Amino acid sequence: MSIIRIVGGNPLEGTVSIHGAKNSVLPIMAASLLAEGETILHNCPNLSDVDAAIRILVHLGCRVWRDGEKVAIDSSTLDKSEIPHELMREMRSSVIFLGAILARTGEAVLSMPGGCELGPRPIDLHLKGLREMGAEINEEGGNIICKAKKLRGCRINLDLPSVGATENIMLAASRCEGTTIITNAAREPEIWDLQNYLRRLGVKVSGAGTPVVTIEGHGPAQSAEHWVIPDRIVSATYLAAAASSQGHILLENVVPAHFSTVTDALTEMGCDIKVGRTTVEIRAPRRLKAGRPIITRPYPGFPTDAQPPLMAASLKAEGTTVFVENIFENRYRHAHELRRMGADIKIEGRVAIVSGVDRLFGAPMTATDLRGGAALIVAALGAEGVTDLSGVAHIDRGYDDIVGALSSLGAHIMRIDRE
Ligand code: UD1
Repeated sequence: MSIIRIVGGNPLEGTVSIHGAKNSVLPIMAASLLAEGETILHNCPNLSDVDAAIRILVHLGCRVWRDGEKVAIDSSTLDKSEIPHELMREMRSSVIFLGAILARTGEAVLSMPGGCELGPRPIDLHLKGLREMGAEINEEGGNIICKAKKLRGCRINLDLPSVGATENIMLAASRCEGTTIITNAAREPEIWDLQNYLRRLGVKVSGAGTPVVTIEGHGPAQSAEHWVIPDRIVSATYLAAAASSQGHILLENVVPAHFSTVTDALTEMGCDIKVGRTTVEIRAPRRLKAGRPIITRPYPGFPTDAQPPLMAASLKAEGTTVFVENIFENRYRHAHELRRMGADIKIEGRVAIVSGVDRLFGAPMTATDLRGGAALIVAALGAEGVTDLSGVAHIDRGYDDIVGALSSLGAHIMRIDRE
């Protein structure tokens, strides 16, 4: 078991290069099953969720090589269509393999991903979409058993713009007969990245970034090479860390437009932000001030994944900051831990009210989910004294060497491996 120890109070200073996006690379790795050839992915982050996706691909019969940030996947040797529970439970987003396996083999058996740290995470919209395309789906004993002699393109309206459902349907539609039109589709940048990868496979897909995505099915594709987009949530986290520690840092290798809601919020809090083509520079004031309410919404709204780090940055801001969480019902678990540092946070259903305090103090804390865990680091950087953080496996799912990156920015942070 590892812990992360942070001694707060050192302003971050320097440059950090942002790695590839977890939420892009995972669906693209699933999509690589559609190719009966080799996929080469660049800018692939070193994350435990990526390792879990590699284990699934290998289990399915694919051959996978990894060399630093480059991953090669040969899916021509795929010979299975089921994913056992041990592999499914490692990563909730493994459900994204459903559409791809079904499209490639005509059947798929996966165990239910179930709930997770953020509360219940149903997949009814994924299944509804696949059923409308002609899949027969039975849910038995915790398994989802899907069969489709032939998937056919159709019009699918999503009740909510679910990211995962949009991706699953895009994957299933990529190899089926006819045209699929998804309305009320998710508009996140990761959908756009998936579209670009599918286009490299030869699939005719358009509309990503708008509420209507159209996919024209295509036969097997051979090989593709793709560069994964930078991670907008990791970008938001490092900006929040700079704000919390009164720092001055430069993010490199970013797409600023993907997290402009976050830079806008930090500007309102008094940070000086300069946006370049692929860079963002942030200089935090001595004391932040509370800005307008931060209300999470589907993209292009404020991302739910950036809510915990921004809350951590707001703890010492002058005034009261209001957060409204509209995407997940159980997304304030970090707030309970933050109170241990002296934060003043009141929670009423989907609303959290943070009253800025003068000082925060390091404390033993436990990460209970990925972005909530990152938020605890952000707060600890702005606190006095030592924080020992456990539950760091959650953070390893989505941040490639966060300890190395923050120490290169001058933070007093280390990872301690314990028996
Ligand atoms: C993805 C991201 C996650 C992010 C989330 C919202 C990945 C791997 N994960 O998760 O980091 O926090 O988008 O931006 O990309 N819902 C249903 N039925 C469904 C599917 C979803 O009711 O079939 C609900 C969910 O419970 C949730 C909301 O829709 O309240 C959004 O979920 P969704 O967009 O599907 O999130 P994920 O794809 O799971």
